[in-house]
Amino acid sequence: MFHHVKELQFNARVSKPDVRFAKLLLEQFGGPNGELKAAMQYFVQAFGCRKAYPDKYDMLMDIATEEFSHLEIVGATIQMLLTGVNGELKNAADESDLTKVLDGKAAKEDYIQEAMVNPHFFLVSGGTPTLTDSVGNPWSASYIMGMGDLTADLRLNIGAETSAKMVYENLMKFTDDVYVKESLRFLMTREVAHFQMFQAALDTIKPNFPPGILEGDPKFSNKYFNMSKGEEYKGPWNEGKSPLMGEEWQTIEEPRQHVKDTNGLLEEKSKGTDRSEESVQSANKKLSAERKTKIDEANAPKNGVMSWSVYEDSQKAKDHEKSSASK
Ligand SMILES: [Fe+2]
Repeated sequence: MFHHVKELQFNARVSKPDVRFAKLLLEQFGGPNGELKAAMQYFVQAFGCRKAYPDKYDMLMDIATEEFSHLEIVGATIQMLLTGVNGELKNAADESDLTKVLDGKAAKEDYIQEAMVNPHFFLVSGGTPTLTDSVGNPWSASYIMGMGDLTADLRLNIGAETSAKMVYENLMKFTDDVYVKESLRFLMTREVAHFQMFQAALDTIKPNFPPGILEGDPKFSNKYFNMSKGEEYKGPWNEGKSPLMGEEWQTIEEPRQHVKDTNGLLEEKSKGTDRSEESVQSANKKLSAERKTKIDEANAPKNGVMSWSVYEDSQKAKDHEKSSASK
């Protein structure tokens, strides 16, 4: 269940209205890297691991709910930045004078110019935040990524936190308001915290690479195709051992010739790896069975019923509390 608390998680403040920045900030309200995207992504992913990975479910729901709290902070900040606009738009019977609330004629002209770039925000919303990005594209569920597998989902979330952090970092350059900057810095920092939570959670799942269940074909998992000619560089991405699988990188210097020689890679040989087709097949079978059993057992109906929540335990805990208090 959700239970709303009217106070914000962070004491967001604004020193004066700024319609231009309000519009930019919409990027983190209804944009592809924004707070609603993050909240919905973790919320949707959480369903799949409720039973089999209750610890990850707990974390995903904590972070999803915190992202909703951030959405609220961003919305509140946008609303404060639009102070005066909402009321003045309602003052429809009078000759509306936005000049008064917008700190002079120049600010009004700014407002009109902004309204022309994103009319939806200023004219349709009536001076409140809209679920769009900063140029007016409506929020879309297509921003949400989830594969129903934690080793994939947690990596997608690390990516989501990365881009959200960068948008805040960039937004901070477009306002001089110390109070707004303070909130943005808080929001940016929480992305840094979430990034590490997802990484740490991923590290507790073994094995977690490659994402999902199936191992890669050992003939191709450590081949580096030198596909561009000119200045050449060497690094841990093409020499030494591959970082996650520990296979020796094999550089194919002449990919065109190599593809010809191997009949379009059909006759490729594996090299620099301990893995073989047999070891891959048996690892695939073993991990498939392991994950299936874990998920099936966790989700099996108890006494012919499936239930999402357990309330008895909390009742028991209360009874226990009562009895120990009366002693
Ligand atoms: Fe986050």
